[in-house]
Amino acid sequence: MTRSLMTEPRLALFFTFAAALASGTQAASPAERAPTASGQAVYEHWCAPCHAPGPGHPGTQSLQLKYGGKIPAVLIERTDLAPETVSLFVRQGVLLMAPFRKTEITDAQLATLAAYVARNFRKP
Ligand code: HEC
Repeated sequence: MTRSLMTEPRLALFFTFAAALASGTQAASPAERAPTASGQAVYEHWCAPCHAPGPGHPGTQSLQLKYGGKIPAVLIERTDLAPETVSLFVRQGVLLMAPFRKTEITDAQLATLAAYVARNFRKP
């Protein structure tokens, strides 16, 4: 006994899911999209509370003082931060920024986070 593809319940579910995915995200292939998406999520959770723009963000304020406005104080606007530099600061910490443990940010998450934060990086 054969049933058409679309009446097979699990397949129908899959097609619905695939259609939802396709309509929610335009051009980018899953491989291009995934690292940035999850890197951004890690950033929003762990970093933005201190590094978002505006007053009340100690990371942004401290970097404003450190560089005197010569380069952006907001981390994700920087063009001079390589992924390796971001990873180093995250694991080492600096001033009141405590090092992040692997139980907080895994190595895999750190890779996507560093790629996200350093997405505007221009090699000198
Ligand atoms: C508790 C607040 C806080 C959190 C949370 C925090 N930071 Fe920071 N971060 C700071 C402060 C403050 C500095 C500035 C130190 C200075 O003035 O040298 C800093 C500096 C940095 C620097 C060095 C920039 C430079 O040019 O010296 C990087 C890179 C950085 N943070 C990345 C991150 C990332 C990525 C995260 C999220 C995983 C994060 N920080 C979370 C407070 C924080």
